[in-house]
Amino acid sequence: MTQLTANPNSPLSDKTISHTSTSLNSFAPRLLDWFETNGRHDLPWQQHQTDTPNPYIVWLSEVMLQQTQVATVLPYFARFMNSFPTVQDLAAAEWDEIAEHWAGLGYYARARNLHKGAKQLVAIIDETGDFPQTLAGWEAISGVGPSTAGAIMAMGLHHYGVICDGNVKRVLTRWAANDGDITKSATTKELWALAERLTPEQHSGLFAQAMMDMGATLCTRSKPACLLCPLQEDCLAHEQGREEEYPVKAKKKPKPSKFSNALLIQNSADEILWLQRPDNGIWGGLWSLPLEFIEKIDGKAVANKPDNKIMTEPQLDVRSNEKAYETEFTTAEQIINEWLNKNQLVAESVSATLFDNAPAPIKHSLTHFHWYLTPQQLTLNTEQSQELTTALQAAEINVNWLNSNEAQATLGLPRAMVKILQ
Ligand code: ADE
Ligand code: SF4
Repeated sequence: MTQLTANPNSPLSDKTISHTSTSLNSFAPRLLDWFETNGRHDLPWQQHQTDTPNPYIVWLSEVMLQQTQVATVLPYFARFMNSFPTVQDLAAAEWDEIAEHWAGLGYYARARNLHKGAKQLVAIIDETGDFPQTLAGWEAISGVGPSTAGAIMAMGLHHYGVICDGNVKRVLTRWAANDGDITKSATTKELWALAERLTPEQHSGLFAQAMMDMGATLCTRSKPACLLCPLQEDCLAHEQGREEEYPVKAKKKPKPSKFSNALLIQNSADEILWLQRPDNGIWGGLWSLPLEFIEKIDGKAVANKPDNKIMTEPQLDVRSNEKAYETEFTTAEQIINEWLNKNQLVAESVSATLFDNAPAPIKHSLTHFHWYLTPQQLTLNTEQSQELTTALQAAEINVNWLNSNEAQATLGLPRAMVKILQ
């Protein structure tokens, strides 16, 4: 058995939780024993089998893995490492190139943080000669929260570090039968204290990787494999037969729905108009069709509507709603909207000429709302497309005229745009 005990200097008093010191102290050795024979040791970002870990690799992979599963991240990680083998390469890259490498992974704020974080890291390396060496140093990097910083300390530097991400929280709430709402900060504090108490001072990196593997392969969200679990004998959720009831999470309000038209504005060469989105806000820095906001409906109202109603209903006059016009249209979209209006041009339903019914919108779900995007088409003559391009460029908006294949091959497109093109 790996000779390790839990961290006795942790601020958590053993009396505050439901397990004996024997249970607490044997947690790490049991977990590490399991990890040695049953854990994953071949993930390309793992640094536990080298004496000279590379913090760049751990930072990059941890940010990619923040809201995304290992299997999805693997090919993206390989492409990133191939194109940007060092943090200096990533910092020096153009945003468009990074966006293109990220396209499809979702949560683009993470990609923007990676770019910003790389620049911050290079500045620190230029000044100190090395990557940050402290938890606070890593937490100061864009996109790095306490758990990611702990993972980098432990796995990327082989220093002491504690992790407490979603997987760890699931394992710990079950093992301790902690029924606090994990969206509440009081519960988060308890779970961090428990994670600190359990993390061994030696080999906290191995322990972090073992916890992640446990959460991903045994203590899964549904149907955990308790019979194979090294924590089974004193897991309180298992004892109660209520594994799947943890972690407890307050029910979320249903998401609101937003309805927009996606304008396929074509020129006489059959190329489509693409706009680069502003850096702040949704799809920041990525390329999108011009969108035309229609309306937003709160989650409860949507939940009460039959699906076919949601699909066909909205047709409000957007320009009459001044407040929505200011907040929901980017500058570029306002310019387009006003230009179309002035020229009395109206985009039409893509297949309205082929079918009686307007086509159903594309549904795309984001963190805070569902987005229903209805493709609408409009063809401009040469003079019109030039005039519109000039109007947009005068407002310093990046525009591109590309056909569907070219756009998919060369621009960083959000997944919703790819869905529309297909
Ligand atoms: N999820 C977050 N970090 C991970 C890692 N290093 N290995 C596997 N899954 C993870
Ligand atoms: Fe998770 Fe089951 Fe292990 Fe408990 S016994 S930690 S519920 S896998």
